[in-house]
Amino acid sequence: MTGYRFNTVPELRVGLGAAAQIGELCVQLGVRRLMVVTDPGLVDVGLVEPVRAGAASQCEHVTVFSAVTADPSESVVLEALSELEADRSDGVVGLGGGSSMDVAKAIAVLATSKQKLPDLYGVDKVAGSRLPLILIPTTAGTGSEVTPVAVITTGKTTKAGISSPVLLPDIAVIDAELTLGLPSHVTAMTGIDAMVHAIEAYTSFIKKNPLSDMLARQALTLLTANQRRVLSHPKDLRAREAMLLGAALAGQAFANAPVAAVHALAYPLGGHYHMPHGLSNALMLPAVMRFNAAAAEAHYLELAALLPDDVGADVEGFVSWFELLIADAGLPTSLSAAAVPKEDLPMLAADAMQQQRLLVNNPVEVDESAALALYSAAWEGTR
Ligand SMILES: NC(=O)c1ccc[n+]([C@@H]2O[C@H](COP(=O)([O-])OP(=O)(O)OC[C@H]3O[C@@H](n4cnc5c(N)ncnc54)[C@H](O)[C@@H]3O)[C@@H](O)[C@H]2O)c1
Ligand SMILES: [Fe+2]
Repeated sequence: MTGYRFNTVPELRVGLGAAAQIGELCVQLGVRRLMVVTDPGLVDVGLVEPVRAGAASQCEHVTVFSAVTADPSESVVLEALSELEADRSDGVVGLGGGSSMDVAKAIAVLATSKQKLPDLYGVDKVAGSRLPLILIPTTAGTGSEVTPVAVITTGKTTKAGISSPVLLPDIAVIDAELTLGLPSHVTAMTGIDAMVHAIEAYTSFIKKNPLSDMLARQALTLLTANQRRVLSHPKDLRAREAMLLGAALAGQAFANAPVAAVHALAYPLGGHYHMPHGLSNALMLPAVMRFNAAAAEAHYLELAALLPDDVGADVEGFVSWFELLIADAGLPTSLSAAAVPKEDLPMLAADAMQQQRLLVNNPVEVDESAALALYSAAWEGTR
């Protein structure tokens, strides 16, 4: 068949204060006993209580599971699932970054399924349905609130993805007030992650399509125009809203035109050194774009025209713009500066070959020797 398939969430609720209206959303979905899945940091900064109270105004029972850890492991998913079963919850809210939302997605499926967690890994392996699911992002990054994917850490250094349209929530809530207190390093890294989603969706080799293109372009416009502003003026609600919407649009884009070599090479860095997802993407982005330049030049130049500054009409100007953005945000600009041992690079290149699901989307083929060359270039950096 020629043509393409485009899936997204049935409902987006966008607005300041939208998260506190959660009770209304529970009524809409017929949820009586709700579990809110989140992490301890969000409890500490006071973002969870208004959502809990909003839900409690309409639900018979609300439980908060706040033990999600960054890059959540299978044991965190199973712990959340057993609490959900003990509480007989009939609906799930994921409140937080990608880590909390991904745990919420996984348990919403497992709660109604005979399948075990490892049975779900891969593409379209989910056999049944799921509990009603609402996702509320508090980082402007992963776009998990609109993607059919949950990423779980399966071993000491490995991650696996569950990819199925069943994971798309019933409702995604885009409320920028939740992101006002985002620490600057998290703002910087997650913002870059969202930009990488837009760039990789726009150059996605197999499933690039006009709807994803439109979303990626608007996402990159919003994200690049506002990233510096949210770092210098963290309380600028208009800029925060643009970043959160940009991340969601980028998520809708890459949900249908999947990400490629930047993410494939970033995953081993996350696995081996517990590097945050956005940082590992930032470290690989310049090297991969230079590697892709010959094949993706036209697409990169179309995106370059959307940047808030004139970067000229060559790919190098486009790549350098992102390098400067990453450096100005105070993030490390090379794998050496991020303390990755040089002797580990061959092992990382071998590991990256496990990510064929992503590598097939890259506009230029990446074999193990190309992966090693990319890690070497990223280790040196250019700044
Ligand atoms: N499902 C997908 O489509 C998808 C896509 C990309 C990445 N991921 C996964 O998402 C995870 C990363 O998610 P992330 O980058 O959003 O980070 P995260 O969820 O791990 O959160 C990072 C930290 O930021 C804090 N935080 C979040 N929001 C905050 C706020 N508003 N105020 C104060 N602190 C806040 C959290 O407490 C946490 O300590 C990884 O596991 C990655 O593999 C999933
Ligand atoms: Fe990502």
